[in-house]
Formats: sequence, structure tokens, C-alpha cells
Amino acid sequence: MDTTEPAFFETNGPGTGGVVGLPLDRVDGFAKVTGQAKYSAEYKLPGLTYGVLRTSEIARGKIQSIDTTAAAKEPGVIAILTHLNLPKLAKTPNDAEGKKAIGAPMGFLPLTSDQIHYAGQPVALVVADTYDRAVHAATLVRVQYATEKPIVSFLDPKAQLFDPLKVQDGKTPGHTKRGNAQEAFAAAPVQLTATYEHAINHHNPMEPGATTAVWEAADRLTVYESTQGVTRTQKALSTMLGLPTEQVRVITKYLGGGFGCKGSSWPHTILTVQAAKAVGRPVRLSLTRPQMFTGMGHREDQHQTLKLGATKDGKLTALIHEKTSTTSPWDNYAEPNSRIINLLYACPTFESTYQLARANVMTSTFTRAPGEAPGSFAIECSMDDLAYQLGIDPLQIRLLNYADKDPTNGKPWSSKSLKQCYARGAELFGWSKRNPKAGMTRQGRYLIGWGMATASYPVHNNQGTARVRLYADGHAVVQTGATDLGTGTYTVMTQVAADSLGIAPDKVRFELGDTQLPTAPNSGGSVAAGTVSSSIYMAAQDVWQKLTKLAVQDSKSPLYRAKAADVVVEKGRLMLKTDKTKGEDFMALMKRAEMADIEGMGNGKYGAGYETGRAAGPADSGHQDDKGGHSMHSFGAHFCEVRVDPEVGTVRVTRWVSVHAAGRILNAKTARSQIIGGSIFGIGAALMEETFRDPNLARYTNASLGEYHIPVNADIPDMTVEFIEEHDPYINAMGVKGIGEISMVGVSAAVANAIFHATGKRIRSLPITPDKVM
Ligand code: MOS
Repeated sequence: MDTTEPAFFETNGPGTGGVVGLPLDRVDGFAKVTGQAKYSAEYKLPGLTYGVLRTSEIARGKIQSIDTTAAAKEPGVIAILTHLNLPKLAKTPNDAEGKKAIGAPMGFLPLTSDQIHYAGQPVALVVADTYDRAVHAATLVRVQYATEKPIVSFLDPKAQLFDPLKVQDGKTPGHTKRGNAQEAFAAAPVQLTATYEHAINHHNPMEPGATTAVWEAADRLTVYESTQGVTRTQKALSTMLGLPTEQVRVITKYLGGGFGCKGSSWPHTILTVQAAKAVGRPVRLSLTRPQMFTGMGHREDQHQTLKLGATKDGKLTALIHEKTSTTSPWDNYAEPNSRIINLLYACPTFESTYQLARANVMTSTFTRAPGEAPGSFAIECSMDDLAYQLGIDPLQIRLLNYADKDPTNGKPWSSKSLKQCYARGAELFGWSKRNPKAGMTRQGRYLIGWGMATASYPVHNNQGTARVRLYADGHAVVQTGATDLGTGTYTVMTQVAADSLGIAPDKVRFELGDTQLPTAPNSGGSVAAGTVSSSIYMAAQDVWQKLTKLAVQDSKSPLYRAKAADVVVEKGRLMLKTDKTKGEDFMALMKRAEMADIEGMGNGKYGAGYETGRAAGPADSGHQDDKGGHSMHSFGAHFCEVRVDPEVGTVRVTRWVSVHAAGRILNAKTARSQIIGGSIFGIGAALMEETFRDPNLARYTNASLGEYHIPVNADIPDMTVEFIEEHDPYINAMGVKGIGEISMVGVSAAVANAIFHATGKRIRSLPITPDKVM
């Protein structure tokens, strides 16, 4: 008998089943359109009660008194929690240690003191037997405040700027220095300095933050939660409650979007859990749309100043980036804009600094390509500036500064197909017909402009596990604790499982969204597709290894006494590598062995590529990237045409082309949809999205979908989206980089650059509303 491990990695490249990559319809589509898909606020549990938050009207001060008598007398009211009676927690995020232990984005838990730090801060949670009764009772809670004048943003004269690096909480991007950028800039023959403004953006997923909490016993909790990560929520809750993690179960079967705001655990979740404990019944709480603007973070208001030094022939010599943004009274979050500015082009020197100011606002958090989206706005507009200043084509200037290796660390790219993205995008768009002069193309009363920009997003270091159970009758159950934001995880993972197991997709039942399943990372940072698909693929390989061992020991098998290493598996058939007529399918083998099923476990790791076999690079769930020998990023290019009405300043995007290269694409249809969605978000940030904070009261004045504008169908043209086929052997076992966020990177710059080409006006403040264009 031979005991060598089968060499699946050399022989069974992912995709041998022929299902991966196909434009499969969504496997959850039917459940969704028929209302059978249950979201977190749709579980009808016995004895269910309804929680409603009462929030603070003021942004800064103290609760002097809170009178719940009238509210408590209303019919159906079961309990009212305030800072005076909230059951005590084992740990809260209110101090640095607690915050770290919990992993919360927000270093302050409302209802733990009389302090008011931001408008919209919860001050009471009313529980009643119906939702309407809870809503009504919440209006009857009387709160008296001692009000102080709030600090509204970093622009507030009273706001004190500080360097987050000096705070050292590990959350801020800090300083980056490569060479002497100041000297290089001073010596540069071409110098550009520009300041870019970015408005506050909110995530606005269709499904709001929602929690349904049920205590199964005094020390055992189940939470149906609208989260991008059941494991992270489980950790946050168990730490705050002082319970072993296994006594807290978090379930998220369906999500109506997240965009980063569901990437962490927020106050309403633990408050709902505490309310359920207090009333001894399940409690459901769903944030209202206005509460979504103060309940789950946002993209911070920010200024970036970018200094760009170059030679006369357009080669970059220096990049100096400074970012100033608003943070909350307790956190030091700043999205890491400098990351992409440092990475995108070959430039010998780089320096970046961050400054923050504390204001009376809710904490900001990951929002749709945090860092890369606004950072790309600065660098990609400045590159456009440089191109026009030197009379070089904007695409040409990017090729002139093409980074053949990662400028930040000198490492080779695991793969980079950006040149192909540029070329294909330019071809699809007709870029060669561009008028080199800005403000020269008219179509009746309109000005027409073309712009382009580069996109990139890192492959973050992460790992996850999956379990595959293959049955002798030819079906399989595949499980992992991942979440599907609505982007297609159910569908693509069903394909990966079918592909790796050699069975039809409808023979696969794929389950996710439960802490009782094998652990998967947060669906954030575009990691889910790569990590989860790789874990499923690896779990399938585990199954094949076990079955191969079985076959070579089974005297009735055609593979009896073969070397395990000589056995390959294709479409569920085990066979000799050298003579594929010798072999059998797994069902025959399992039936003979009287096995009903067989189970495999797999770990999907960053840096464990399928061509490096089992020599998995060190991977942990932290965010330390580029641990291995390669720098791993996806790349792409956007091309945009706008039509500007110079009389009223309105901008319409009339043509759009995006071409991306992101390793293996798991499903041509869902991938295209995801790129379209992300690009539309980028167009929203470019032209519409903006949350206004009242300059005196620090309250949001447009906290509704009626007044926070995002593009609708009529605002968006047909979009052309393509992918460059890219084979990356280093990233993970499936060679998947992920496309969740790259779709949005560079988009606002492409739009702004097109507006410049149309009008000759460089607008560096987002969103580019008609008042700025006129
Ligand atoms: Mo994303 S902003 O990492 O959920």
C-alpha cells in the first residue's frame, strides 16, 4: 500500500468541474423574490416583543433628568431601559482595553452614563408588545438636557487637530515615509499641489441594522443579526456579556446590503440583547432610516492635500499626502487613503500624514472601499492634472509611471493585468478618438467630456474554514459561517462546491451565516470570495484524499494498489493520471464501502496558492498584508463620458466602461452586477452623495433616503463591464482576488476628470453638484 499524499494541486486545478465562472442565476433568487428569505428582523418567535430607540436631539451635554413615567403607563409597554437601569455588562467599549477586547468600532456605549456625545445617541430603549406601541411610548419619554455647544467637524475653529499616530491605538494608518519626498518635491521641475474635499457619506443599505435577540436560557443567547460577520458579532457580545463564545449564537441568513456599516457590532445590538434579558422575552429592534445615519457609522468628512512632483516628461518623483478628517470624541478612526496613493505608480519617494479632530459626531467606519475610494480621488485627479499640464494623454501618463513592482515594498506583484485593463477599456470606449483639449467638445447646448482613472484594491490577509459533506447518492452539504451581503456568496460558493465535487449545482446545498458552522471571516475588505471559495475547494480536496486512500486499498476498485499520488479526480471520477480509463466515480466507491457520506474540512488561506501546493504561507486573520514574497492586488480601469449642461451645471454620465482584473472570476453574471453596483456607488459619491451636518447643532439635516441622494436608474447609462482573464497562482487556493470594493475605486476621479475635459474646470470637492459646476 502506498501512503504518499495525492498530488491534487498539480493535477486538479480549480475549475476542473467546469461550473466555476459560469453566469449562474442566483440560487437564492427565488427565496428572495417570493419573500421566503428571512432577514434578521423577520423571525417571528413566540412571545416576541418590539424594541424602539429614543435618541438624543442634542449633540453635546448631559442628561439632567429622564422621566419614563408617562411612557411606562401606556398599554403594552413592558420595559424602558435608560442609563439608570441598564443591566451591568462584564465589559464595555468605554475604555481602550474593553474596546480592544470587544473589537467594537466604537469606543463608547450609550446608556452607560448621562453624557451625550452626539446627536442621535440612544438615551432610552422602549420595549412593548407591538411595534407601534413601542414607537408611541418612546415619544413620551421626557428627557431634560444640560446642553453644551457641540464641535461639528475638523473645520470648526474650536476643533483641535491631533496626530493619531501619537495616540497609538493601532487603528489609525499612521505615517508612511519612503525616501525623502520633501526634498524630491522641492527639486521637482513640475510641482502640483491640490486639496481634495470629500463629503460625509452614509452606507444606506436597503435593510437597516436589525437585531432579534432571544435568551434560550439565563446564560445562552441566540441573536439574529444584520451583520457582515457572525463571528465578530459573537465575539463582541460574548465579551460584553462575560459569556463563553459558544453560549452566544449569531445567525445571519440574508443581508440587504452592508457596504461596511455591518462590518462591526454597534450599540443597538447589545442594547437589544440587554432588553431581551430584562423582559425575559425575545426582542426585535430595527433601526429606523434616520437612525441609520447615527447608528452604524459613516464615511468621514475629510480634506486631502496631495503634492505631486514630476519631471518635465511626466515621471513622478515625489508624492506627499496629508489627510485631515473628523473623528468622534473617543475613536481615532481614519480611513487609510494613503495606501493606494503610495501603491498605484512607480514613484521613488512618498510621505503621508494624518490629522484628526474630535467632534460631537458618531464614529466613522469602513465605508465601501475605505481609504481606496477617496484616496484614489486625490491621486487620480492629480495624475489627470499632470497630464493636462504637460500635454500628455491621461492614459499615457499612467503608462509612463506604470509600477512593474509594488512601489511600497519592492515586491513583485502576484499578478497584475492593469495594462490589459487600460488597453481593453480604451478600445471599448474609443479613447483614441479623444480630443486632447479640454472644454472643446460640444453637442448642442451640452459640453461633452471624457475621463479615466485607475482602480486597485488589496487582497487582504485572511483565512476561513469550510466543511463539505459528500453523500454516496451524489449530493452534498457545504457549510461555512460566511455571510452573503446580497452580492452572490450563496451562488458562487454553490458553484465552487459543485465544481470541486464534480456534481451539478442543484445537488449542492450551501449553508452560511451561523456561528455554529465552521468559522469564516467577516465579509468585508473584499475577502469573502477568495477565502471562502478556497476553504470549500480545500475541503473538497480533503474528501478526495480520503476517497483516494480508500480506493487504492479496495481490492474491488480499478485503482487498487495504485499510488495515491498517481490518482487524479475530475468531475467526481477518481482515475489514474497516466491512464484515465482506469478509475471509477465516487458513488460506486462509496456504495461498495457502504459509506452513506464522507466529510472533509478545508482552510482557505491567503498566500496559499494552488500551485504552491500545501506549502501554505503564514496566514492569520489580521490585516497584515503582503507577508509572502508577492504583493497581491486587483487592478482595473474606468472610462467615463459626461454631458454637462453649462447653463445649469448639471452633469449626466452618458457612457461608462470598466475593465478589471481580479484573478479568477467565480460567476460572470454576479461579478458584472457587483462591478456595476460599485461603480454606481462611485458615481453617487462623485455627483450626489452628501450628508449635511448642521453647523450649529451638529445634527444631520438630510437623514433620509428622500434627501440623501443616490443615483437611480435614470441617472445611469448602460454600463460596459469586462474582466481580464487572470491566472494568479499565489493568492489562495482558488486564485480569487475578490471584487467587492475595487468597483468603486477611481470612479469619482474618472467622473471628475471627465467633467474637467468637458468644461476645463477642475472640481476637487465631492460631490460635484451643479453649484460647483456652474
Ligand atoms: Mo467593506 S467597506 O470592507 O464592508
